Amino acid sequence: MQSLPTLTIGQYTVPHPVVQGGMGIRVSGAGLAAAVANAGGIGIISAVGLGMNSPYFDIEEKNPKTRQTRFFEANRLALIDELKKARDLSPEGVLGVNIMVAARDYERLVKTAVDHGVNLIFSGAGLPLTLPALTAHRPEVALVPIISSVRAAQVICKKWQRQFNRLPDAFVVENPQAAGGHLGAKVEDLNDPAIGSEAVIPALVQYLAENVEAPIPVIAAGGVCDRATLRQALALGASGVQIGTRFIPTDECDADQRYKDFHLNAKPEDIVLVPSPVGLPGRALQNPFVNRVNAGEVPGAKDQCFANCLQVCKFRDRRETFCILRALDRACRGDVENGLVFAGSGVGQAQQITPVAAVMAELVAQ
Ligand SMILES: Cc1cc2nc3c(=O)[nH]c(=O)nc-3n(C[C@H](O)[C@H](O)[C@H](O)COP(=O)(O)O)c2cc1C
Repeated sequence: MQSLPTLTIGQYTVPHPVVQGGMGIRVSGAGLAAAVANAGGIGIISAVGLGMNSPYFDIEEKNPKTRQTRFFEANRLALIDELKKARDLSPEGVLGVNIMVAARDYERLVKTAVDHGVNLIFSGAGLPLTLPALTAHRPEVALVPIISSVRAAQVICKKWQRQFNRLPDAFVVENPQAAGGHLGAKVEDLNDPAIGSEAVIPALVQYLAENVEAPIPVIAAGGVCDRATLRQALALGASGVQIGTRFIPTDECDADQRYKDFHLNAKPEDIVLVPSPVGLPGRALQNPFVNRVNAGEVPGAKDQCFANCLQVCKFRDRRETFCILRALDRACRGDVENGLVFAGSGVGQAQQITPVAAVMAELVAQ
C-alpha cells in the first residue's frame, strides 16, 4: 500500500493528512487539539461557548444585558486561556481554531484567535465572507472555509479574490450524509447522491484546478473513521481528511469521561437526526433528550435564552427546539441523558479509550 502524503495548508505542513475537526462545546479544547498536533496532524480548538463554565461567567447573573456582555467577554478570555494551554502542550504543533460564522461574537473570536498565535482558522456554519478582512494584519494565518457544495466554494473564491485579493488556503468539504454535528443540508435532501463526498469532492477539485492558479487543498470531512475510509477520501482527490467522531473516545478529548464512554459504547444504529435552533439538522446519538426534542417537546421557562449567542435562533425567537448552548454544555459535562451528544455515522469504531497517538497510528498505518 502506498504511503500517505503529508498535508500542507498555507505555510504549515504536517506529516499526516489528518485534521481533527473542531467540536463544541469543549469536546475539542486544548487537550485534544494539542494531542492531535503532537501526533502529526492539525489540532483544532472549537471556540463555541468556551465561556460557559469558565471562571469568567456566571449564568445566574440577573441583569440580561450584563449577562450577555459578560458571556461574550468570557468566551474571549476562555479562548485565550485555551490557546495558551494548547501552545504549552504542543509548542511546535500546528494548531487551529474553529469559529462558526453563525455565532454573534464571530468577529471578536476571530480577532482574538489570530492575535494569540493560532496557525489556522476554520470557519463554517455560514459563508465566512469577511474572514480575510478580520485577519488582514496576520497574513500568515491560514484561512479554511468549511462548505458542503461547489457553489459555496465558488462564491467564496470570487468574493475573496475581488474584495481582498486573497484565496482560501484550503476548503473543508463536510459531507452532510455522514458528518457529526450541524449539517449543511436539509433533511429532505440528505439522500440525494449529488450532495455526498463522492460527487462534491471530485467536482470541487476539478473546479479549483480549472479556475484557480495556486493549488488549494480540499479536505474531506464526515464518516472518516479508519484506514479504509481515509484512503477512500484521498482516492476521490482530497488532500486530507477532517475527523471528529473518531477522536472522541480518546484520553485527551476534553469532554467528561461519561461523554467519551457514551461514544465508546454507541453503535451506528444509535445515530439520529435532530433539528437544531439554527434551522439545520444535526447528527447525534439517541438519548432521552433527543427523543424529547424529536417528539416536539420544548424546554420549560427556566431554560430561557440567556446569552443571545446566535445570529439566527429558533429557540430565542420562536421558542422552538431548544437552547443549544445549554444542551451541548450539559452533554460535555457528563449529562449524556439530558444533553446533546453530536456524532458522525462512523461512530462505534473504537474498542476502548486510547491515547490520540494510537488512533493516529491506526489511521495512517501502511
Ligand atoms: C461532538 C461534535 C461537535 C462538533 N462541533 C462542531 C463545531 O463546533 N463547529 C464545526 O464547524 N463543526 C463541528 N463539528 C463537526 C466536526 O468538526 C467534523 O467536521 C465532523 O465531526 C466530521 O465528521 P465525523 O464526525 O464523521 O468525523 C462537530 C462534530 C461533533 C461530532
